[in-house]
Amino acid sequence: MGFLLSKLTSLVTVVLFGLGFCIFFTSTDAYDPLDPNGNITIKWDIISWTPDGYVAVVTLFNFQQYRHIQAPGWTLGWTWAKKEVIWNMVGGQATDQGDCSKFKTTPPHCCKKTPTIVDLLPGTPYNQQYSNCCRGGVLSSWIQDPSNAAASFQISVGRSGTTNKTVRLPKNYTLLGPGPGYTCGVAKVVKPTKFFTADKRRVSQALMTWNVTCTYSQFLAQKAPTCCVSLSSFYNDTVVPCPTCSCGCQNNITHPGSCVVPESPYLASVVSAADKNSPLVRCTSHMCPIRVHWHVKLNYKEYWRVKVTITNFDYRRNYSDWNLVAQHPNFDNLTQIFSFNAKSLTPYGTINDTVMLWGTKFYNDMLVQSGPLGNVQSEMLFRKNPATFTFDKGWAFPRRIYFNGDTCVMPPPDAFPHLPNAGFRQYVSLLTVIMISASTFAFTYAYA
Ligand SMILES: *[C@@H]1O[C@H](CO)[C@@H](O)[C@H](O)[C@H]1NC(C)=O
Ligand SMILES: *[C@@H]1O[C@H](CO)[C@@H](O)[C@H](O)[C@H]1NC(C)=O
Ligand SMILES: *[C@@H]1O[C@H](CO)[C@@H](O)[C@H](O)[C@H]1NC(C)=O
Ligand SMILES: *[C@@H]1O[C@H](CO)[C@@H](O)[C@H](O)[C@H]1NC(C)=O
Ligand SMILES: *[C@@H]1O[C@H](CO)[C@@H](O)[C@H](O)[C@H]1NC(C)=O
Ligand SMILES: *[C@@H]1O[C@H](CO)[C@@H](O)[C@H](O)[C@H]1NC(C)=O
Ligand SMILES: *[C@@H]1O[C@H](CO)[C@@H](O)[C@H](O)[C@H]1NC(C)=O
Ligand SMILES: *[C@@H]1O[C@H](CO)[C@@H](O)[C@H](O)[C@H]1NC(C)=O
Ligand SMILES: *[C@@H]1O[C@H](CO)[C@@H](O)[C@H](O)[C@H]1NC(C)=O
Repeated sequence: MGFLLSKLTSLVTVVLFGLGFCIFFTSTDAYDPLDPNGNITIKWDIISWTPDGYVAVVTLFNFQQYRHIQAPGWTLGWTWAKKEVIWNMVGGQATDQGDCSKFKTTPPHCCKKTPTIVDLLPGTPYNQQYSNCCRGGVLSSWIQDPSNAAASFQISVGRSGTTNKTVRLPKNYTLLGPGPGYTCGVAKVVKPTKFFTADKRRVSQALMTWNVTCTYSQFLAQKAPTCCVSLSSFYNDTVVPCPTCSCGCQNNITHPGSCVVPESPYLASVVSAADKNSPLVRCTSHMCPIRVHWHVKLNYKEYWRVKVTITNFDYRRNYSDWNLVAQHPNFDNLTQIFSFNAKSLTPYGTINDTVMLWGTKFYNDMLVQSGPLGNVQSEMLFRKNPATFTFDKGWAFPRRIYFNGDTCVMPPPDAFPHLPNAGFRQYVSLLTVIMISASTFAFTYAYA
């Protein structure tokens, strides 16, 4: 019977999980309710005309509140409208020169119709740098570090128009950050940018400026979940683990070696093996590289306290400048937070239930690879609002968690640790109905 029950539970979990998946992934819209104006804007400023083209400064601004671009960084592409070539670049480079055999003298930097541009790496010589360049394509999120949320490079374009009437704007912009997920709109000519000198005593302006806006959608990124949530509380001994197979299933038959056990004598050699860029996660029931644990720790008269722990299960990956977005109705009265930074996100002005959390610089802004140091933690103190506060019905647990901009898989609300001797629940949630019908179905299935 116990076996049957556990089988049933997993079936129900699969059904529920699938359901959540469908709801989440049917929207192809790039709209993020927690960051409705989030976008990456690419701006081209022509700063001089040349005999056969122009010199422009291209700047990428990451205007997203909490989504950053991590290593190995952004890749920008476009399609030239005519037969343009790139003579030269500073602070960035085209990954492929293409066929420049038509040029008898010094060949251009890139002759491709669809150039692909990447940032230069840190440590680039000064004469090849441009302001805000050379961070290996990494862009901070706007809230975490606006001074590192932009990147620029300079580009000299030939065989193009040489006046603002004859220049044709590049088409079909593409942006990888670093994987898929971004969709870019069409370039639009906008008011020329004004540049101020450092002392603000002189202003100059671009000869012509155009903008392109790119937005992110997790649907287009087609990413499997990379993070899950587990829960516990002082009032109930049960630790509710991450749902099984949140990020994938352990399958030794189809994916041998897809994860490693920490006790393995081969751990060190596997971790340092050739393919350093692919993830290598610790074998767990959830198989996620990241787990967020929310523990309701203490109850005071006027306050209550939560401990949040983020654990890295990937042996090959350090998450620098990680961030977490959490939603809970009591965030409007977050009184104190230890060792993390916090900023409330209020996309709709009035509802103040979402915060972004990130590490303290040089202390815990890097979540290091799996191991004894592979976690960061914080405690949060909330002031109770007597009108809404309760430990009943899992109210003390978060509604939604995002890690580095991607949703984390939550345990189903019915599984949240509940108060001992919780009375008969008169309110039957929709989820319960689904659970019941799903288990009825499962029973039928099991006995068929
Ligand atoms: C892009 O983001 C900026 C900054 O939040 C905002 O001002 C602008 O309107 C956004 N653009 C689009 C097209 O959403
Ligand atoms: C082109 O430049 C002229 C002046 O040189 C200016 O009047 C005009 O508005 C510019 N057009 C565009 C599209 O920037
Ligand atoms: C832009 O990209 C789309 C899809 O990749 C392609 O069908 C279209 O031909 C491209 N347009 C140009 C001008 O290259
Ligand atoms: C173009 O982009 C720049 C930089 O993001 C921004 O300041 C400017 O307002 C944008 N212009 C328009 C018309 O969107
Ligand atoms: C996969 O292998 C590990 C260790 O060898 C074992 O503990 C686990 O039960 C296996 N899982 C399956 C689904 O066979
Ligand atoms: C992660 O950071 C630690 C400490 O800085 C370093 O020793 C380790 O090599 C890094 N691991 C990876 C995979 O970059
Ligand atoms: C949201 O709540 C936090 C914590 O009490 C507070 O610091 C912040 O000012 C509030 N934000 C808004 C927009 O009301
Ligand atoms: C915090 O809680 C107090 C009392 O419960 C309430 O009056 C106040 O409006 C809350 N603060 C915010 C920013 O919502
Ligand atoms: C603790 O919570 C779990 C999960 O909701 C529940 O099954 C269990 O009965 C609770 N324990 C007590 C002592 O009420």
